[in-house]
Amino acid sequence: MADNSFLNSRFSMYDLIARKRDGGCLQTEEISFWLRGMLDGSVPDYQTAAMLMAIFWRGLNEAETFALTEEIVASGEQLDLSGIEGVTADKHSTGGVGDKTTLIAMPLAAACGLKIAKMSGRSLGKTGGTADKLAAVPGFKLDLTEAELLAQVADIGLAVVAQNKNLTPADKRLYALRDMTATVDSLPLIAASVMSKKIAAGAGVIVLDVKYGSGAFMPDAASAVELARLMVKLGRSAGRRVTAVISAMASPLGAAVGNALEVAEAAEILQSGQAVRGNEVSADLRRLSVVLAGELLYLGGLAADRATGWQQAEVALANGLGWQRLLQFLQAQGGDVSALQAGQLVQAEFVLPVLAASSGYLAAADAARVAEIVQFLGAGRERLEDEIDYQVGVRFKQPAGAWVEAGDVLAEIYASSLLRAETAARDLQGILSVLPEPPQIEPLIWGLVDEQGQVLPWAEL
Ligand code: URA
Repeated sequence: MADNSFLNSRFSMYDLIARKRDGGCLQTEEISFWLRGMLDGSVPDYQTAAMLMAIFWRGLNEAETFALTEEIVASGEQLDLSGIEGVTADKHSTGGVGDKTTLIAMPLAAACGLKIAKMSGRSLGKTGGTADKLAAVPGFKLDLTEAELLAQVADIGLAVVAQNKNLTPADKRLYALRDMTATVDSLPLIAASVMSKKIAAGAGVIVLDVKYGSGAFMPDAASAVELARLMVKLGRSAGRRVTAVISAMASPLGAAVGNALEVAEAAEILQSGQAVRGNEVSADLRRLSVVLAGELLYLGGLAADRATGWQQAEVALANGLGWQRLLQFLQAQGGDVSALQAGQLVQAEFVLPVLAASSGYLAAADAARVAEIVQFLGAGRERLEDEIDYQVGVRFKQPAGAWVEAGDVLAEIYASSLLRAETAARDLQGILSVLPEPPQIEPLIWGLVDEQGQVLPWAEL
């Protein structure tokens, strides 16, 4: 990063904070001054915290958000994927409960010919990120060198590694401060944070899954669309092809929430090909994964249109090539897949059923409350240094809207202590409502934001 002494003499952080507090705008070089100062120590964290709060309330205009994103990218190294033959692609979800689409969509897209290099940070969310889920596979290592990552992507078309420490250091610092100052939920700060990492990670094609609802950052579809359009624009200005699927996160995605449970569910879907026979609870997860894989193929130019992309993804699911690619990828990174193949990855000490107290139609479980229960069981972390229990979580046995009889098993709690299992079972039963009338089930996929930022409702696709 460049010497900040010249900038230091021209700007006052105090004045910049006051201007943003009063609703004014920051110039590109003022944003540079701030972030460079934050990293070299000349701007103390308390001033960055104050600036973040001012941004939280006043927002950033598009030019400021672009400048912030570019400065975060410039704060560290960038991965150079240009030596890899073929189309390099990445997929990113803004985060949700039970969201293991990456584990299904990426092997499918790789099996169809895309080259996928993904960096995944350890999550501070209540239920673990992709890196945490993969760590549930014995022996799997996320710390490949850059040369190993490039070789693996060139060879089998898929690698997932931990966030490189030298990539976007400014985001790391900003995120830690946002996390401690209640300023995470800011649309421009989320957009700059996500897209700076995606741009620095080097892929040419990026498909975003922007979620809304109680288990997501964005409360409703309108704000998810706004975030998606901004992120698509940020990617395009950096020369990347980006689209965003807008999907609901009011209730958990698929059947499982918890790290090993989620890997097992993703494996079941890939392994069984037709997947949902006998497991209606996973149908939404399967569908969204196919849509995301198809979108990657279409955007990457490997499918002539979206419908062909989805169809190619379906074929890779049905013929087992996606499953083979998942196994190949896990093994290439040291993973022992024998338990996964045998359906024995989940080894929790205590498994307790949650039963329907009455007969009726099962309402959708609230994603945020399920996340709290799963965090209580030990599947997520509050601080980065917290240990995760990979074996714990919840598995739903009935889909929302199903007719259930009193005494039917609605879900299972996986826990490492009986006390926690009993508490979680009681809490889960408290949030699973059985209704006399069929509940309204929100459509899973709301629509899409295309490369030009156009909003395409799902019904029109
Ligand atoms: N994920 C990120 O990487 N950054 C944010 O700000 C929010 C979610």
